[in-house]
Amino acid sequence: MSHFSHLFKVSRAVFITITFIFVITWLSKSLKELGLGVILKKSSWDTDSYTPLTVNIDYVEENLLTLDQTDAQLITYTRIRHLTPPSQLPYALDGPLDNPSHFADNFSIWVSKFFHNKRNGIFIEAGAHKGENPSHSLMLELGLNWTGLLVECNPTLLPILKKRHRKAWIADVCLAPNQHPGINNFFNPTKWSATGKLETAMNKRSRNDKVMDEVRSIPLYTLIAAIGWKEIDYFALDVEGAEWEILQTIPFHLLTIKVLTVEEYFQRQRGVVRQMDSFLRRHDMYFHGHIEMDRLYVHKSIRKLIGNKEIG
Ligand SMILES: *[C@@H]1O[C@H](CO)[C@@H](O)[C@H](O)[C@H]1NC(C)=O
Ligand SMILES: *[C@@H]1O[C@H](CO)[C@@H](O)[C@H](O)[C@H]1NC(C)=O
Repeated sequence: MSHFSHLFKVSRAVFITITFIFVITWLSKSLKELGLGVILKKSSWDTDSYTPLTVNIDYVEENLLTLDQTDAQLITYTRIRHLTPPSQLPYALDGPLDNPSHFADNFSIWVSKFFHNKRNGIFIEAGAHKGENPSHSLMLELGLNWTGLLVECNPTLLPILKKRHRKAWIADVCLAPNQHPGINNFFNPTKWSATGKLETAMNKRSRNDKVMDEVRSIPLYTLIAAIGWKEIDYFALDVEGAEWEILQTIPFHLLTIKVLTVEEYFQRQRGVVRQMDSFLRRHDMYFHGHIEMDRLYVHKSIRKLIGNKEIG
């Protein structure tokens, strides 16, 4: 009898265990189907307003090309998939770390003067290139403790940029020319000289002098919302062609840009410079002159900072 009851107890324990495992498996599967598979914890990321939420990765990827730039799922997805937080590691730069002015260029010099050497500002640089020489933002980061977002989708440059250990976010995408993500063709010169560029889709895999890479583009607003910023002190926009389209995606009621430089060359070739000026003026950003070959715009709210100062 006692032998039988022992057997009964064992088989009951086995039954309960199997049922338990079954229920857990079923539960986690249906949770995943409901899109609750990835639950983000609020971490040490320093943000102002970014609210983590559950994201259904499959849903975002299946609908990527149609999601609006303000879509909360897309914003969280972008943070997970396309953004690298500021590096905690020591800089790995070619120039001397103890001499920030070594990294100065005409852009960062103008910006730092304009803001009276303001500390802890926020920049966006697109494209960010190799993150050093050239960089419009490195001097601000090193000398004045600014941080920011470096956008670079060129597969040749991105690994070099990441190895600098800049104290800024890195986005491994192109800025989208529309208010939703895209898949674009990126033409990369085989004989490396300056930059590659985004071009319209073609079915050719390559041309004589260029290799084609497929790259993702994400709207600027989505990237900024994924970090949690609402005000940008300086935005350097130089992406070899799509500048005018990128500017038109920005929801200016959600995002204030105080100083903007835009590469002019391609927009002048296309005859859209006046259109671009009046569009930006409608959003309180006034043309103020040139820095090298770029057009400079300053937001109405801080034009008083200019005083009589010349652009230098
Ligand atoms: C600033 O621009 C001028 C003319 O556009 C150029 O000659 C000079 O080398 C630039 N300075 C720096 C620090 O890049
Ligand atoms: C430098 O900026 C970081 C954020 O990017 C901030 O945490 C830190 O306190 C700043 N340091 C100084 C000395 O202002």
